[in-house]
Amino acid sequence: MTDRSGAGNDSSAARTAAVVALDEKFAQFSEHWSPKIVGELNGQMVKLVKFRGPFEWHHHAAEDELFLVHRGSFRMEFRDRAVTLNAGDFLIVPRGVEHRPVAEEEVEVLLFEPASTLNTGNVRSERTHERLDRL
Ligand code: NI
Repeated sequence: MTDRSGAGNDSSAARTAAVVALDEKFAQFSEHWSPKIVGELNGQMVKLVKFRGPFEWHHHAAEDELFLVHRGSFRMEFRDRAVTLNAGDFLIVPRGVEHRPVAEEEVEVLLFEPASTLNTGNVRSERTHERLDRL
C-alpha cells in the first residue's frame, strides 16, 4: 500500500517513495518569494515558491536553475529579451545568466536546483532566504 505522507516510517526510502501532491503543498503557505523545500535527491532540491510582482535582477554563478509553472503564469526577463511561462511550461536558466521573474498575478512555481542555490543569487537583500522551510 502507498503511504502518501510517509508518516510513521523514518527510512529515507519510504520518504522518497511518498507521493507529493503539489496542490496540497502549495495550500500550506501564502507568502511570496520564499521557497519551501519539498524534496531532495542527488544533491538537488525540489522547492515550491509563489511569485507575485517583480523580483530582483540576479544570477547564479555556479548553478543552473529550473522553473516549472504549476498554476498561473509569469514572465522571465533577461537583459536582452523576456519569455512567458504558463502552467505546464518549464525553463532552465543557465548559470551566470542574469534573470528577473515578474508575475503580474500570483503564480505557483516548482524549482529544481542544487541545495546551495540562494534565491537571490549574487544579490543580498531583504528577500534573501538563507534557510528554507521544509513542507
Ligand atoms: Ni535565480
